[in-house]
Amino acid sequence: MRTLLAVVIVPLVALAALAIAQPTVPDLPFHDSLRGTAPLNEEPKPPLIVPTENKDVIRGLNYAQQPPTIPHKIDNYQLDKNANRCLACHARSRAEESGAVPVAVSHYMDRDGTVSGHLSPRRYFCTQCHVPQADTKPLVGNSFVAVEDIKQAPKNQKR
Ligand code: HEC
Ligand code: HEC
Repeated sequence: MRTLLAVVIVPLVALAALAIAQPTVPDLPFHDSLRGTAPLNEEPKPPLIVPTENKDVIRGLNYAQQPPTIPHKIDNYQLDKNANRCLACHARSRAEESGAVPVAVSHYMDRDGTVSGHLSPRRYFCTQCHVPQADTKPLVGNSFVAVEDIKQAPKNQKR
C-alpha cells in the first residue's frame, strides 16, 4: 500500500494541482514594436513601407567581416532555386561589364576552406546576409560599438 501511494497517488495529485494552476497574465496594455497597442484579435492599420535607399553609394562597415549592406534597390530581382539575379551583375565573370563589386573569394569557399570555380551553395541566397537599407527609426535600440572605437582607459587608471 505504501508503495502504491508513493508511485501512483502522490504524482497524480501533483499533476492535478499543476493542471488547475492558471498562468497569470500581466495587467499591462499589450505592446508590440510592429503592432503597437492593437489587441491581437484586431487588425491594426499597417504603417507605410519606408522606401529603400537607392543611392548607389557603398556604405562603410561597422566591424570586420560584416557582410556589406546593399546600396541599391533589389525589387523584383529573382532569387530562388531557379535563378539568381544578383549573380547576373555580381558574379566575378560579370563584374567588369556591370560595374558591380564582384562577390568576395570567400563566396567560392566550402566549409572546409577549399576554393572552387563556382559559387559555394552556402552563399547562394545572398539576402540571408546582405540586405538593403531604409532611412527609418529603428524598432529597437542598439548600443553596439566596434572594437576599434572602444577607448582604451589610461594605463594607471583601474576600470
Ligand atoms: C543590375 C546589376 C546589379 C544587380 C542585379 C544586383 N546588383 Fe548589387 N550592386 C550593383 C552595383 C553596380 C553596385 C555598386 C554600387 C551601386 O552602384 O549601387 C552594387 C553593390 C552591391 C553591394 C555592396 C558591395 C560593397 O562592397 O559594399 C552589395 C552587398 C550588393 N550589391 C548585393 C546585391 C544583391 C544581394 C543582389 C541581388 C538581390 C544584387 N546586389 C543585385 C549592381 C547590381
Ligand atoms: C552566409 C553569408 C553570406 C551570403 C549568403 C552571401 N554573402 Fe556576400 N559577403 C558576406 C560577408 C561576411 C562578406 C564580407 C567578408 C568577405 O569578404 O567575405 C561579403 C562580401 C560580399 C561583397 C563585397 C566583396 C568585396 O570585395 O568587398 C559582395 C559584392 C557580396 N558579398 C555579394 C554577395 C552576393 C551577390 C551573394 C549571393 C550570390 C552573397 N554575397 C552571399 C556574407 C555572405
